[in-house]
Amino acid sequence: MLDKISKLREEISVITPGSDPEEFRLKYLSKKGLISALFDEFRDLPPDRKRETGNLLNLLKEEALSKLAVLKESAMNKTVQKSLKEDYTRPGYPLFYGSRHPVTLVKNEIIDIFSRIGFTISEGPEIEDDDHVFTKLNFAPEHPARDMQDTFYISRLSEEESKPDDILLRTHTSSVQVRVMQSTPPPIRTISPGRVFRNEAVSARAHCIFHQVEGLYIDRNVSFADLRQTLFYFAVEMYGRNTRIRLRPSYFPFTEPSGEMDVSCRICGGRGCNVCKYTGWLEILGCGMVHPNVLENCGIDSKKYSGFAFGMGIERQAMLKYQVNDLRLYFENDVRFLEQFSAAI
Ligand code: DAH
Repeated sequence: MLDKISKLREEISVITPGSDPEEFRLKYLSKKGLISALFDEFRDLPPDRKRETGNLLNLLKEEALSKLAVLKESAMNKTVQKSLKEDYTRPGYPLFYGSRHPVTLVKNEIIDIFSRIGFTISEGPEIEDDDHVFTKLNFAPEHPARDMQDTFYISRLSEEESKPDDILLRTHTSSVQVRVMQSTPPPIRTISPGRVFRNEAVSARAHCIFHQVEGLYIDRNVSFADLRQTLFYFAVEMYGRNTRIRLRPSYFPFTEPSGEMDVSCRICGGRGCNVCKYTGWLEILGCGMVHPNVLENCGIDSKKYSGFAFGMGIERQAMLKYQVNDLRLYFENDVRFLEQFSAAI
């Protein structure tokens, strides 16, 4: 009998957790099971062998009961895991989707505002030529903006060295105006968002890459009043209902007359604060009536058509909207900076 007991202990000890607990119980612990049979046998033993055998038999029963507990536990875990896997009503695991860049948010807002009044979107190349960036826009041959200091020129391949050095990174999105006028008969009503490049030392207030949106409206009888009202609409949509605008005279070679537009400071409402440097006004864009030379240069009859144009820096608008005053932050892409804009998606 001692032999039988030790064989069963051995047998039970190697049973692994995946086995069926009910099968185990029936085989070893039920009334007709192997251990109960041993207890029956035990009753008929002579008294001098009862003590040792009884101890081992009790040990066997204890071991069998604790194994049964282990088997039940693992079977339970399996069913829980299975039901969790199959429960399609459980919420998903939270994933961080990233956030939109503040420049993208502001660009999309500008696009939205102008598309509501019928402006389309046009794009042009970032690698441009002197003709589209300067010449067609009425820049005089010796105009300082063409200077190597501001413009990144691109050298030609050695076999093309004899051709002029006229390939460059566009310094403003006004070049897209030219491309649109060359390819589309009026009426034209379009905006052109994009990246521009200038050879500037990087600081909080200047960067060698930034973004602009150019606007162009050409039709018969377009007047300065149309320009003013369009930009007023933009300012109110972008900066809020109580925004006032002011146009100051300025100079750009491609517009005549030219202006710069200020909006009333949204922080102090125009009373004066350190954001507006106590003037009550913030400069947001350049604009003007398209110069007749530019229309003619691009194949549009300046006797029949007139138009207005404007150009603004997207980072400039983002700075005013979010009060983030260091341009470098928009290009460093520090996640701790970027994720602050996620709520605005
Ligand atoms: N291109 C100008 C710049 O980069 C901005 C600008 C001013 C665009 C006046 C215009 C305009 O279309 O009419 O500073």
